Amino acid sequence: MSVTYDASRVTVVDHPLVQHKLSILRDKQTGTKQFRDLVRELARLETYEATRDLPLETVRISTPIGDTDAKRLAGPKLAVIPILRAGLGMVEGALDLVPDARIGHLGMYRDETTHEPHEYYAKLPSDIAERICLVVDPMLATGGSAAAALQYLRAQGARDVRYLSIVAAPEGLACVLAADPAVHIYTCSVDEGLNEDAYIVPGLGDAGDRIFGTL
Ligand code: PRP
Ligand code: URA
Repeated sequence: MSVTYDASRVTVVDHPLVQHKLSILRDKQTGTKQFRDLVRELARLETYEATRDLPLETVRISTPIGDTDAKRLAGPKLAVIPILRAGLGMVEGALDLVPDARIGHLGMYRDETTHEPHEYYAKLPSDIAERICLVVDPMLATGGSAAAALQYLRAQGARDVRYLSIVAAPEGLACVLAADPAVHIYTCSVDEGLNEDAYIVPGLGDAGDRIFGTL
C-alpha cells in the first residue's frame, strides 16, 4: 500500500548539483572525509532553499558611484538545531549561509530493536520562539526522531520550524507531517521506503556512522 502525505509541505531540492552530490554520498565506496564534505555541501544547498522566503527591507546605501536603495535581511534571526549525532554533520553547511545563527542541540537516538526514539540531551537558545528554526538531520526514516524533536521544540515555544533532511522515506514524511501541522520539510530525495530494520531503501546506510567513521 502506498504511503500518502501532504506533498505541498515537502520541498524536494532537485537541483542537478544536489542530485549529483547525493549520488556520490549514497555510494558505499565513498569514504568518511568525502562523505562528511558532501553532507556539509548538501546542507548548504538545502539551507539556500529553506531560507528563500526570508523577509527583506530596503535601506539607503552609498556605493563608490552613487546612492541607491538596497535590500538587506529584515529578521527574524535563525537557529540551527542538529539532532545528534548525524545532524552535527549539517551544521557547518547551514552556518556557511547564516553565520550569525544560534545553535541548539537535541540528542536523540533510535533504539536498534524497537526503532523508537530516545531523548538524551537538549539545549536551545533562550529566545527560540523568536527565531526561525532550521532542524537538521540527514535521515528521516520512520520519522520517530523528527516527530519527537518537533514535539520538544514546540513545547519550548518554537513557532517557525523548517526540517532539513538529506534523504527521506515516505513513511517518515507522513509521520512527521501528521504529528506537526505546521512544519515544512526539505529533502534532497524521497526514497522508496524502509527495510525490515527501518533503514531507508536505497538510502545511504547509517549516516552517523559514515560521518564520524564509526562503522
Ligand atoms: C538516525 C538519524 C535520525 C534517525 C532517523 O540517528 O540520524 O536521527 O536515525 O530514524 P527515524 O526517522 O526512524 O527516527 P540514530 O538514532 O542512528 O543516531 P546517530 O545519529 O547518533 O547515529
Ligand atoms: N538512520 C540512518 O542513519 N539511516 C537510515 O537509513 C535510517 C536511520
